[in-house]
Amino acid sequence: MKTISLLSLCTAAWSHALPHSDKARIVRSRAFDRDVDLYANWPSYDDLPLDASYPTKAAWGVWGADDELGALNHITNDTIVAASSEIQLGLAMPLNLQLDMPGPPPNPARKPLQHLFQPGDGYTDDVVVMNTQVSTQFDGLRHFPYSTNNSVDTYQWYNDLIPSYNDVIGPSPSETLGIQVAAQKGIAVRGVLFDWAGWMDSQNKTFDAFSPTSITTDELDAVAAWQGLPEDWSRAGDMLVLRTGWVRQYQTLNETGDVLLPIGAGTWIGMEASEQSLRWLWEKKLSLVGADNPAFESTPFNRTIHGETRSLHQIFIGGWGQNIVEFLDLEALTEKLHQLGRSTFFLTIQNLNIVSGIASPPNALAII
Ligand SMILES: *[C@@H]1O[C@H](CO)[C@@H](O)[C@H](O)[C@H]1NC(C)=O
Ligand SMILES: *[C@@H]1O[C@H](CO)[C@@H](O)[C@H](O)[C@H]1NC(C)=O
Ligand SMILES: *[C@@H]1O[C@H](CO)[C@@H](O)[C@H](O)[C@H]1NC(C)=O
Ligand SMILES: *[C@@H]1O[C@H](CO)[C@@H](O)[C@H](O)[C@H]1NC(C)=O
Ligand SMILES: *[C@@H]1O[C@H](CO)[C@@H](O)[C@H](O)[C@H]1NC(C)=O
Repeated sequence: MKTISLLSLCTAAWSHALPHSDKARIVRSRAFDRDVDLYANWPSYDDLPLDASYPTKAAWGVWGADDELGALNHITNDTIVAASSEIQLGLAMPLNLQLDMPGPPPNPARKPLQHLFQPGDGYTDDVVVMNTQVSTQFDGLRHFPYSTNNSVDTYQWYNDLIPSYNDVIGPSPSETLGIQVAAQKGIAVRGVLFDWAGWMDSQNKTFDAFSPTSITTDELDAVAAWQGLPEDWSRAGDMLVLRTGWVRQYQTLNETGDVLLPIGAGTWIGMEASEQSLRWLWEKKLSLVGADNPAFESTPFNRTIHGETRSLHQIFIGGWGQNIVEFLDLEALTEKLHQLGRSTFFLTIQNLNIVSGIASPPNALAII
């Protein structure tokens, strides 16, 4: 197996001697030395995958064969310090929707949030039971493997670290690639807003966010220019945040409209699932992507990419170890950034620290 490890501080050799439950802690503590050039051997999009036996455009081995952080490795001490200069007004703006929104969940297989109350002696408690794929959500690396026709026996997870489906959802799940890894990493980044919906409005162009409309990289380049971003706007570790207009359109629905919402049929606007999108995104060295829609990418999930039937979900999560944040509420932030003539902001994310977890509310907070 050919791997190009970018990590000179690899702890893998001695981590094997430790009990498994210590592993996440070690992954987290794999701090980067400021003197190491992380990108000295950085593969181009055309170099992917590093081994011909790996699935379509996977970045397996790029951060080391045992790596569980994936694209979060782009977040370093230096990127966090640089991102902190985005804090100028001291205005903190939460980006999570209410936990019961959208309600009912667009995918009927996902049960709505349950919120119960429990009395105590001199105190009160409440109990929340939720599917982590409802409301604003951070997709962890156990959420989406590569597959052929969704068939379980073809599942392949990031870095090929999970031998079987049962290790993820069986009675004694393993911890590998669990959401605790992202929860313990400490996610603080520069967010870069791409207000595609606002750009469409500026041209008096209408669109239906509940239709399978694909947003292309050419459009995103035009959005960047419209917002006044320089052509070389990206910095390693950035999170790209795409406003498609989905949440805005959702918020216009009345109660009857909610219930009738046609997204159960699985159509929505989002980034085009194509080689062009992947190349554009890979070259930006993003730590994360996020959007105000159900999946960042548009539907359906079965486009042809590099000659295979693939989704961005498969390649981001299963291939690059790149998490996706969905159903972000970007409305107030977008309005404020436009007022200020800005596109960038400081952003923190704190996932639930649940060992073996698959996804989490991101508790996303923008600070400008
Ligand atoms: C980088 O941050 C980590 C904690 O996240 C810390 O342990 C490490 O010492 C820092 N490195 C430098 C060079 O400051
Ligand atoms: C996937 O499903 C399609 C449609 O049912 C079928 O034509 C194709 O042969 C399947 N591919 C594989 C590799 O099983
Ligand atoms: C959009 O419509 C407004 C109001 O009708 C008009 O003032 C403006 O010039 C239009 N902009 C474009 C780009 O067509
Ligand atoms: C509620 O939304 C539905 C679907 O969009 C629409 O047909 C209906 O007229 C709306 N009702 C009210 C009272 O606005
Ligand atoms: C992709 O999915 C759509 C919607 O489910 C379906 O109509 C179409 O046949 C699928 N295409 C392929 C190539 O599997």
